[in-house]
Amino acid sequence: MEYRRLGRTHEKVSTIGMGTWKIGSYRSAEEREGQVKALRRGVELGINLIDTAEMYAHGKSEEVVADAAESIRKDVFIASKVSPENLHHDDVVKACRGSLARLRTSYLDLYQVHWPNPKIPIKETMAAMESLVEEGAVRFIGVSNFSIAQMKEASEALSKNELVSNQVEYSLSNRRVEADVLPHCAKERISLIAYSPLVRGDIVSSIPKAILQKYKMSPAQVMLNWVTRAEHVFAIPKAASISHLEENASSVSVRFEEPEYDEVSRV
Ligand SMILES: NC(=O)c1ccc[n+]([C@@H]2O[C@H](COP(=O)([O-])OP(=O)(O)OC[C@H]3O[C@@H](n4cnc5c(N)ncnc54)[C@H](OP(=O)(O)O)[C@@H]3O)[C@@H](O)[C@H]2O)c1
Repeated sequence: MEYRRLGRTHEKVSTIGMGTWKIGSYRSAEEREGQVKALRRGVELGINLIDTAEMYAHGKSEEVVADAAESIRKDVFIASKVSPENLHHDDVVKACRGSLARLRTSYLDLYQVHWPNPKIPIKETMAAMESLVEEGAVRFIGVSNFSIAQMKEASEALSKNELVSNQVEYSLSNRRVEADVLPHCAKERISLIAYSPLVRGDIVSSIPKAILQKYKMSPAQVMLNWVTRAEHVFAIPKAASISHLEENASSVSVRFEEPEYDEVSRV
């Protein structure tokens, strides 16, 4: 596994993380156990970043993550998110307490604002985030789905901490962030956490054969390798199946040549 520094911190986080949207929705105890096992397998393979949210499966995603992190809490980097309707000061604190309880942990490694809410001043939200850092409930502060202007406002609202990440949609099929957010994050040394990096399972079918053969990779692996080609990018594919997870964990074991990345970019 490849590890990268998160933002300007010295924290080493795996380039490939594990997304957990829809994890926590299950029809049987066996299915739930399978989700826990898949996350555990990911950690065995060197993945330490697990992304969840209070919103996912109405909190049940965090409960599954808690089971996966049981007795290995220090080996995992848990990132959760506060929902956009909970961005007033006291609501952020309350939401964090809820996430901590469901995750059965005393701290979140990264706490992200899930979506901006223009009706609630970001200054108020960031003050609450800083109070959580102060009391040790949160280690690092991030955002998600923020524009450059919103990121700047969030950064300016922080007095004692830095904004370490912005989680946004980024994949071979959705490259909107390349126009602005991606270069801005590189310049400010803010990590970009790419969500839906596998286009929600709609794997791109036209990856050049020569690259697939040369690196003995699947199209999904090429997509993950490509999306994390810039040093400040992490990707958080969701995989409930162990075979997908194993594929994803080995997707960045080698890096392509620059012209090959360009070739994939043209797909
Ligand atoms: N911040 C936000 O607003 C936001 C929004 C959306 C998502 N997210 C985060 O980003 C994570 C990932 O995004 P996502 O769940 O939307 O989509 P995704 O990761 O792009 O795609 C997930 C789908 O790809 C399949 N898959 C995984 N590995 C594969 C492989 N190696 N080969 C073929 N198929 C594979 C999965 O199947 P199996 O599950 O069957 O293995 C699943 O159906 C989420 O879980 C969540 O944590 C954040």
